[in-house]
Amino acid sequence: MEKIIIGRNRKDFEEFGEKGTAFIGRHVVGTGEKAHLTNPMYMDVLRPHVVLVAGKRGSGKSYSAAVIAEEMTRLPKEIRENLSVIMIDTMGIYWSMKSPNEKDRRVLAEWKMKPAALNIKFLVPKGFMSEYENLGVKVDCPLSVACSDMEADDWIITFGFSPIDSHGITISRVIKNVRSKFGNEYSIRDIISVLDSDERCEQNVRNALVNRFTAANEWGVFEKKGTPVKNLFARGRVSVLDVSHFARTSSGWSVRGMLVGLLSRKIFHERLKARKTEEFEVMGGGSKETIPMVWIMIDEAHQFVGDGAEGPATQPVLTLVKEGREPGISLLLITQRPNKLHPDALAQSDLIISHRLTSKADIEALRSVMQTYMLKDIQNYINNLPRQKGSAIVLDDNSERIYSVQIRPRLSWHAGGSPAAIKEKGFLDF
Ligand SMILES: Nc1ncnc2c1ncn2[C@@H]1O[C@H](COP(=O)(O)OP(=O)(O)O)[C@@H](O)[C@H]1O
Ligand SMILES: [Mg+2]
Repeated sequence: MEKIIIGRNRKDFEEFGEKGTAFIGRHVVGTGEKAHLTNPMYMDVLRPHVVLVAGKRGSGKSYSAAVIAEEMTRLPKEIRENLSVIMIDTMGIYWSMKSPNEKDRRVLAEWKMKPAALNIKFLVPKGFMSEYENLGVKVDCPLSVACSDMEADDWIITFGFSPIDSHGITISRVIKNVRSKFGNEYSIRDIISVLDSDERCEQNVRNALVNRFTAANEWGVFEKKGTPVKNLFARGRVSVLDVSHFARTSSGWSVRGMLVGLLSRKIFHERLKARKTEEFEVMGGGSKETIPMVWIMIDEAHQFVGDGAEGPATQPVLTLVKEGREPGISLLLITQRPNKLHPDALAQSDLIISHRLTSKADIEALRSVMQTYMLKDIQNYINNLPRQKGSAIVLDDNSERIYSVQIRPRLSWHAGGSPAAIKEKGFLDF
């Protein structure tokens, strides 16, 4: 049966044919009771993309993102080795990819597939590693950030101050002094010691800041030396960065945002460097070890690149959205509220996979990205989706087509945010 390839324009199709595509599901034809699955649907992964995965809560967004991640590891070696996936796991659900999806063995068989565990690289903030290890889940690499990677402004935004209030001004001065005293290697304790001896600081400001930095120390991510950025990448593999723990702190999203912002900046710079080396190789300059192209998948993306107040991740992620194609960075943004996403992130999306959405404002947001379609058409396609989980519409800017799709079942276990899953039999058999 003929393959449908989304995300690939005609010119690339002539050049690459079906090479470098990921199997995501099957085309749905007909409506309601008569809906049935037809042609297999594949998605281009050779070119960088900005993919938006939308849908209301529980409609299959996180699941679909994991399907795409799984596919990256099943590509032919020569393509796979040039790619890597980094999943920013805000909900703490993707570690279960280490386990095969035994519970859906029968459904998978209907798709001529079998459950399979994924060899993911699992990274957890250093301070939370033991929690997973006590559960019997192996953490492959600690995740930490060098204190010196945080600019004064990063602290200011993360703590919710302004660069021009007395707290912000003090942070700027203190970080400058810390740098001149300790150079590039310092800890939060060093920052606090400089803060303590800062004579220009009013006592109430000092107390507030000492409190914040002490709390930041307890996030378990800051060190003198951070995880080298190259450890986040693994050729042909999926790295899962679990940032879910900060949900417990009152400033949860801003801590997650701070991490996402820092990582986005680092990945962007590494890929810019790598791109230069790759060009150099193409020009005959010999081979150097570089980091692979990367797909960054961000769950609950509206929390980082929303249309409201800026957080510490907003600008760094928008840079990836706007300038990531050249250095080979693809983004997959998952959101239940496309209407709440930053307009630039919406505008740059070239592929939308949307599960069921009910709010008119959200459907209008999809329409605003893909001007080729009529609002009524999008609405009709969504209304006619079969009731099964994992059904979605695809809006493809590359081929200017709209489709209905049933996303395939997963090979690896989907934890789906339900803590009860941990207790299910077979889950921890790896
Ligand atoms: N393609 C699919 N095939 C089969 N079941 C699916 C599919 N997508 C989602 N589901 C089911 O729906 C549940 C919710 O999906 P999930 O991706 O966690 O929702 P959300 O949109 O909130 O991220 C999953 O736990 C799974 O049982
Ligand atoms: Mg989800």
